[in-house]
Amino acid sequence: MLRDIERVLLTGEQISERIKSIAEELKKEYEHKNPLILCILKGSFIFAADLVRELDFPCTVEFICASSYGKSTVSGDLIIKNDIDFKVAGRHVIIAEDILDTGRTLKHIMDIISAEKPASLKLCTLLDKPERREQEIKADIIGFEIPNEFVVGYGLDYAEKYRNLRFVGVLKKDVYSG
Ligand code: PRP
Repeated sequence: MLRDIERVLLTGEQISERIKSIAEELKKEYEHKNPLILCILKGSFIFAADLVRELDFPCTVEFICASSYGKSTVSGDLIIKNDIDFKVAGRHVIIAEDILDTGRTLKHIMDIISAEKPASLKLCTLLDKPERREQEIKADIIGFEIPNEFVVGYGLDYAEKYRNLRFVGVLKKDVYSG
């Protein structure tokens, strides 16, 4: 698995430090608001798990499973795989996403959630790849802005592999083009 990685972009320690500072930022605004942390599966399962454990105030956690890539590195049709069977109206929602890339996934999800009339809605993404943006969408909180390279690890996959890496790394081109 490691031999498929060209280089480490963000170490586990860098990610962990950044998540602590994001949690402090969230505390200032949400400490007494019982926010709903919305984890966008599958990619954000590790980010959301680490983020909520840094929050030392009440919150709830819900999940949406969205997928657009399949086995490819090219963004394809977006599929939302589960119903929103939790109450959003009146809640302070924080979307926890692993990566904002073209913005198609998050634009769609933000539209769906907005229609449910939350008290507030914020987007928190660990990684932002602005060069690839197709939709007009900006995250409220960004962990790291990254260059336009194919990254895996810390929840992010290629063909469902590499999600379990502790770091975010650039995948060697021959892995996905060979
Ligand atoms: C990835 C990632 C984001 C989305 C971002 O999910 O987790 O949800 O792509 O891309 P976009 O900004 O171009 O829409 P993916 O569809 O690969 O599914 P996964 O989370 O199950 O890996």
